[in-house]
Amino acid sequence: MKLRSAEWFEGRDEIGPQSRAVLRSLGWSEEFFRGKPVIGIANSWSELNNCSLNLPALAAAVKRGVIAAGGIPLEFNTIALGEELMKPSAMLYRNLMAMEIEETLRSYPIDGVVLLGNCDKTIPAQLMAAASANLPAIEVCSGPKSAGQWRGQPVGSGTALWKYLDEYRAGRLSEEDWRGLEACYSCSVGTCNTVGTASTMALIAEALGMMLPGTATIDANDTRRLAAAERSGARAVELVRTDLRPRQIMTRAAFENALRVYTATGGSTNAVIHLLAIAGRLRVPLSLEDFDRFAAETPVLLDVQPAGRGLMADFDAAGGLPALLAELRDSLHLDALTVGGDLLGAHLPLRRESGATVIRAAAEPILPAGGLAVLRGNLAPRGAIIRTVTAAPQLLQHRGPALVFDSYEDLLARIDSPDLPVTAESVLVLRNAGAVAVPGLPEWGSIPVPRKLLLAGINDIVRVSDSRMSGTSAGTIVLHVAPEAAIGGPLALVQDGDLIDLDVAGRALRLLVDDAELARRRSAWTPPAFPHRRGYPRLYREHVLQPDAGCDFDFLRPQSDDDMEFIGPVVGRS
Ligand code: FES
Repeated sequence: MKLRSAEWFEGRDEIGPQSRAVLRSLGWSEEFFRGKPVIGIANSWSELNNCSLNLPALAAAVKRGVIAAGGIPLEFNTIALGEELMKPSAMLYRNLMAMEIEETLRSYPIDGVVLLGNCDKTIPAQLMAAASANLPAIEVCSGPKSAGQWRGQPVGSGTALWKYLDEYRAGRLSEEDWRGLEACYSCSVGTCNTVGTASTMALIAEALGMMLPGTATIDANDTRRLAAAERSGARAVELVRTDLRPRQIMTRAAFENALRVYTATGGSTNAVIHLLAIAGRLRVPLSLEDFDRFAAETPVLLDVQPAGRGLMADFDAAGGLPALLAELRDSLHLDALTVGGDLLGAHLPLRRESGATVIRAAAEPILPAGGLAVLRGNLAPRGAIIRTVTAAPQLLQHRGPALVFDSYEDLLARIDSPDLPVTAESVLVLRNAGAVAVPGLPEWGSIPVPRKLLLAGINDIVRVSDSRMSGTSAGTIVLHVAPEAAIGGPLALVQDGDLIDLDVAGRALRLLVDDAELARRRSAWTPPAFPHRRGYPRLYREHVLQPDAGCDFDFLRPQSDDDMEFIGPVVGRS
């Protein structure tokens, strides 16, 4: 086995001595490190991100595993992507994290990498980097947080917040109650404990074969998670020794397994964008239509919030992802390789867990099929999506007059006004909230139900935007309308009172305005001004692709096999 790191540590002239001296100054003795694979540990721990707070302990466990298997662990930090404090959205920086990890792998003597994921955008960024670098890589997640208790019930992260926020806005929850919920809403390390984006992406990483089987659902506070991290460290060394790389694992078959799991869990809409981005890095063919097709033929089996009732801890108790895979067995590629070195099908239990379980049998699904739908039409020529499993069934066919918010600021200023001309039939439209506009495609798409309607007892209404929403949210919400308004997509042309037709069964989103009128409006349209004239936001705005291409940067998405070559540095004088 010729190690990549040998270019540095066994290098010619002064490179070898200089590189070995670095390891000595880090406290490694030459007899110990010589000839061993170097395993990078990409750690995005930060006090700016509460979801990452157990990563130092996981990194220590990974190191134990690496050393025990005969490798050298070297931990490095990456940007923290904390969903809750980072504004306008951690999504703005997903591509930056992917670039940062790719460039760290390129420029340092690293043979393989353990990726420590946590909050929503971290696993996607890490898998994008792993796809591009194609060095042996294994994903470890921080795990879902333990639930706090409120009014005697476990609190579902995000989902409870959105639900009770509406109650609070409608004056049905006291300030004291609201403070009580706040105190136990997030009182543990780890990620949201519902099927939000972080859990969805952890499940997808496991289904793709990039995470050790059975580890995505382990609670962040459970010591089995430390053991899983330790095993992952040891496996990283073996991945290097056997030269098993991400592109051998993340194949089209692996993506089909991931789509099956995604649609069976009723997971976060953000996964659509992230999977398209990861596949794009690999040149694995994947389109919005694949999501629609898989959703249409896959029953939603997971009874976990926001689509169901339980939490991730219940999913883990029911056997975790392997138990769900067992229910889906006949529709999976069981011969797909995993980072465990064996096949996906090797880990499926033969019997279901006894007792109450949140994994429904295929014969008793939450929804027989169609937990997600891809819409097209003159309002979304390049597609839009709706998470039907968390939408109101009676609103899935709906025609109503548009009520347009031209920006998020406009929305905040007017949404709770008693004078807002809104009815239960209205279709709320938020535009200029997409990838280019803000920039960064924030989670503004779950437009709050106007207080006027909440007071009238109406808790859901059709909403349409070029934005995203939190994976923990629910409602009849059409997202990712593309092209977005800021680049001249048809959403830019909608006016108050225009009729919008949502036809989920027909997979259509239409603006019922004739072409001549739309052409007249287009000739009068001018693009919005962009505030960022320099720096990363400008780079982002100039290069980000639309949601149907995963919102990756155009220059990071290979156009040919030649573009996929991972060119290392010239290892010589610095
Ligand atoms: Fe970090 Fe939900 S806020 S996972």
